[in-house]
Amino acid sequence: MLVLGLESSCDETSCAVVENYVHILSNKIASQEIHSYYGGVVPELASRCHLETFPKLLKSTLKEADISLNDLTAISVTSSPGLIGSLSVGVNFAKGLCTGLKLPLIGVNHVNAHLYAAFMNNPYAIQFPSLGIVVSGAHTSIFSVNSFSNIKLIGKTRDDAIGEVFDKVARLLNFPYPGGKYIEELAKTGNSEEYNFKGGIIKNSPYDLSFSGLKTAVLYAIKGKNSSMHPPFPELTEEKKRNLSASFQKAVFFSLVRKISYILKASSYKSILVGGGVASNKYFQNLLKTNFEYPVFFPKPQLCTDNAAMIAGLGSILFNSYNKKEKVEPCSCAFWENV
Ligand code: KG4
Ligand code: ZN
Repeated sequence: MLVLGLESSCDETSCAVVENYVHILSNKIASQEIHSYYGGVVPELASRCHLETFPKLLKSTLKEADISLNDLTAISVTSSPGLIGSLSVGVNFAKGLCTGLKLPLIGVNHVNAHLYAAFMNNPYAIQFPSLGIVVSGAHTSIFSVNSFSNIKLIGKTRDDAIGEVFDKVARLLNFPYPGGKYIEELAKTGNSEEYNFKGGIIKNSPYDLSFSGLKTAVLYAIKGKNSSMHPPFPELTEEKKRNLSASFQKAVFFSLVRKISYILKASSYKSILVGGGVASNKYFQNLLKTNFEYPVFFPKPQLCTDNAAMIAGLGSILFNSYNKKEKVEPCSCAFWENV
């Protein structure tokens, strides 16, 4: 089975070809540099970039995979969640291809696909049910994963996503967007005890999380009480930057690890699956590995951030499970309804 994956939910345009669920023949990702000038993603610019990039990226993806469009079994596309303009560019590109080629179209949930990315790295090792953790620029969510066609949301951030807070703190420290990796690097040599930051708690919602208060605490530590997130940001000494980064990073991940411990205590999960851009953070990976006796699975670094290989992979699984239930005609409505 050869599935083409298309991803355009935010500021990465990506095309991939995956053979038999997990074998990546090609996975091309075009990141839109233009947003770093604005310190965050500008939705209209993102949609226009996807539109310009898809046709040439598809060509180079097929070339690298050494296949033609006629070899494909199905096409899988991110259908939600994401920026509406960006999503509709990808979905309409996919619909055009499927109509022309008479292929089935599979709509894939982007957040679920982040969890699937960890499976692609360890297809034979993962035991279900698994506790799924997605930590990205737009999402911080906790799932019960019974299989990849049975994923249930059990908790999430009520305000900022962890990646978003990393990016905002990085901005306060004058790093370009996206800034998570700079914070991780600085934190390695910082004193995490210097500032007493804490993640938030949501009353009567024991599975949910909150990070906006922590973000504000870092802002006040940098610019003073009642200051705003708008520039200019003060020049800080290297030592202060390192200590702020280490204290912030510890507070974010300790808060998440406490939540995971709480959930695991009252459950029968057999493993932990982690996905999303923040999952590439080594401090976080070590914290999970040392705090829990469960096997913990992460994607390869290049599959942590947004990519179409995870969309093609999860699309293959969904295609297979739909196929078992009913005979599928090319471009059948069963798939179109999911898009
Ligand atoms: O999964 P992704 O591409 O975004 C969404 O789908 O939303 O992840 C991007 C996010 C950014 O916020 C980026 O700063 C963060 O992942 N990130 C990191 C690291 N590498 C990427 N955050 C913390 N530590 C890292 N090493
Ligand atoms: Zn993502």
